[in-house]
Amino acid sequence: MDAHEVIARCRRLAECTEEPGHITRTFLSPPMREVHALAGAWMRSAGLQVRVDAAGNLRGACGEGSRLMIGSHLDTVPHAGAFDGILGVMMGIALAGRRPLEVAGFSEEEGVRFGTPFIGSRALVGDPVTGSEVLGAIREFGLDPDCLPDALLSPDVRGYLEFHIEQGPVLESLDLPLAVVEAVAGQSRFEVCFTGKANHAGTTPMHLRRDALAGAAEWIGLVEREGATVGWVEAEPGATNVIAGSVRASLDVRHARDGERRRIADCLLQGARELAHRRGLTVEWEQKLDQPAVDLRCDQLERAVEAAGYPVHRMVSGAGHDAMILARKVPSALLFLRSPGGISHHPDEAVLPADVEAALAVGAKYLEAWRPE
Ligand code: GLV
Ligand code: MN
Ligand code: MN
Repeated sequence: MDAHEVIARCRRLAECTEEPGHITRTFLSPPMREVHALAGAWMRSAGLQVRVDAAGNLRGACGEGSRLMIGSHLDTVPHAGAFDGILGVMMGIALAGRRPLEVAGFSEEEGVRFGTPFIGSRALVGDPVTGSEVLGAIREFGLDPDCLPDALLSPDVRGYLEFHIEQGPVLESLDLPLAVVEAVAGQSRFEVCFTGKANHAGTTPMHLRRDALAGAAEWIGLVEREGATVGWVEAEPGATNVIAGSVRASLDVRHARDGERRRIADCLLQGARELAHRRGLTVEWEQKLDQPAVDLRCDQLERAVEAAGYPVHRMVSGAGHDAMILARKVPSALLFLRSPGGISHHPDEAVLPADVEAALAVGAKYLEAWRPE
């Protein structure tokens, strides 16, 4: 399989979507069945034995004894591009057939459907997400959550390799095709809910209002000043002529140093409490993720980059990746491919055929030399 075929397959899977005209494919949503059918057939023609585990991960394995897993995720953010996650799975299929190998297409990494990311890869490392809504979605898809232990990583899997687009502008600015990722920043995610009092927008004097949306807006300014993100808000009841009585908002805090990340998150939640008190609102939150920063393995991957004839460059990832979950159990490595325009989580997301070719060459060298530690 060459780079053009890898890219064509990513584009074909982008047609499996919840929203015509956009690429949106959340955890175990109906189009995931079509992805399993198409990618499963490609895995079979690459000589892999295919199954869907109880967390909805597509798994294809071949060969006996110690093996490497190559994987990434099959889900997307809303209005996504065609390569985030999917590229890593297609790369695994393209590299199959050389040695004992398992290719994994994780059912969920983004955390869009239930606010909790990594549902797919967490099932492999014995830390499954077991909230009732997640278990309900597994059942609804026709899988049995009682079988979640079947998703566990086989003891024969002794290493993990992921290929992923960089999703930022660094490699393009350095004119480099690839980077070896040495660490992934930690993430804290919360859902924060401000409650005030809905009332008439035309008759309620300003000093008598308890406007949950105005409170949330003030808080979002604070979040921005601390270098964190609110990417989603929902105001109720949600009408032009009604003061918002409640607002739910997401909070995403990232940092390479876990202590600093937790300090910023605490400061933002304390800030929410103070401004809610001042404005006559109440505020509550639920933590959805506390994922520490993770160091990844670089040496073997750097040797493979060198052997394939490409310049070696190391970088840190601000985006989360399944490799940071797999690293809890097996030595894990992550190779970035340049993102043209530095664009990702956007329909314009792309990858250059020459960079995919470079990554395939590095993958082949890596597999050739790979020995379990
Ligand atoms: C994954 O895309 C993330 O949010 O880091
Ligand atoms: Mn993503
Ligand atoms: Mn991704």
